[in-house]
Amino acid sequence: MSEREKPQVTVVGLGRMGVPIATAFLDAGYATTVWNRSAEKADALVARGAARATTAAEAVRAAPLVIAPLLDHDAVRQALEPATEALRGRTLVNVANTSAGQARDLAAWAAGHGADYLDGAMMALPRTVATPDGFFLYSGSERAFTAYRSELEVMAPAHYFGTDPGAAEIHDLALLGTGYAALTGFLHAAALLDSVGTAPQVFAPLAARWLYGMADFLPQLAAEAGARTYTEGVSTIDLNRAGVDSLVGLSRAHGIATDVHEPLKALLDRRSADGHGHDSFSSVFELLRATGHPVT
Ligand SMILES: NC(=O)c1ccc[n+]([C@@H]2O[C@H](COP(=O)([O-])OP(=O)(O)OC[C@H]3O[C@@H](n4cnc5c(N)ncnc54)[C@H](OP(=O)(O)O)[C@@H]3O)[C@@H](O)[C@H]2O)c1
Repeated sequence: MSEREKPQVTVVGLGRMGVPIATAFLDAGYATTVWNRSAEKADALVARGAARATTAAEAVRAAPLVIAPLLDHDAVRQALEPATEALRGRTLVNVANTSAGQARDLAAWAAGHGADYLDGAMMALPRTVATPDGFFLYSGSERAFTAYRSELEVMAPAHYFGTDPGAAEIHDLALLGTGYAALTGFLHAAALLDSVGTAPQVFAPLAARWLYGMADFLPQLAAEAGARTYTEGVSTIDLNRAGVDSLVGLSRAHGIATDVHEPLKALLDRRSADGHGHDSFSSVFELLRATGHPVT
């Protein structure tokens, strides 16, 4: 079987993320056209073999697949508004951070100009682009995701979340939310331990080890919450309520802010007061899940 021919690729936006993305395509042997509002940022890529486009329209015309690691929604519209005629028949992959609503607006705008649209969220840093440590989320055109999966995988492992263009951005925020809770928990613990003479740098490796173990626990929490069955958990609401009470009490005694864990304490207290103290910890899900129609 002959190897699939590599399509040409265009990258518009050569900021911190755009440069490693364009570099990854060049390294993978793709004919790559680049454009950036500040033209000099293309110089190093052109020296590595990229074709320089002098306008966004020229860049879009150069390839069937246009990747846009621009700053935000407004930047995408401002950069590509002068290129709308060239967009017809192209696939636009917008990997800028936008809201779910903005992603849907961009999809409609692209469709209005005859382009297929895939929205992306980059769970990566500049240095983890094109490494196993980064991954990108996508939603929008299934045709585009399927047709260009190989190209998307050049940038990072690719995950698809369906045809709603806003879905990738919602999953992005869900992952950020998971991380924020863990990292704020770490900062609280570091403050607590700092008050007894253990420096944050000493604590960090222990916390990392603990978090890896916590990550292994996620499938069980997910199974319980997914089935909404809370009788087989490894620890109960009441057991964890006692633990969080102790943590809040200790924090207070050491003059440490209790803002991080008070909301969790309130949830556990409520669950227990509702008569679910013997249910699994995962049953907190019942207090958090949507009860009405989502407004996104
Ligand atoms: N950096 C990270 O660690 C990281 C990680 C994950 C996701 N992200 C997301 O990735 C996207 C890009 O981030 P970045 O760090 O690469 O940003 P950046 O370094 O600030 O680059 C922004 C890019 O957008 C262009 N741009 C901004 N406004 C524009 C406009 N009105 N018209 C045309 N071009 C415009 C800039 O052009 P000029 O060079 O001319 O200014 C530049 O190419 C953002 O949505 C960010 O949230 C970033």
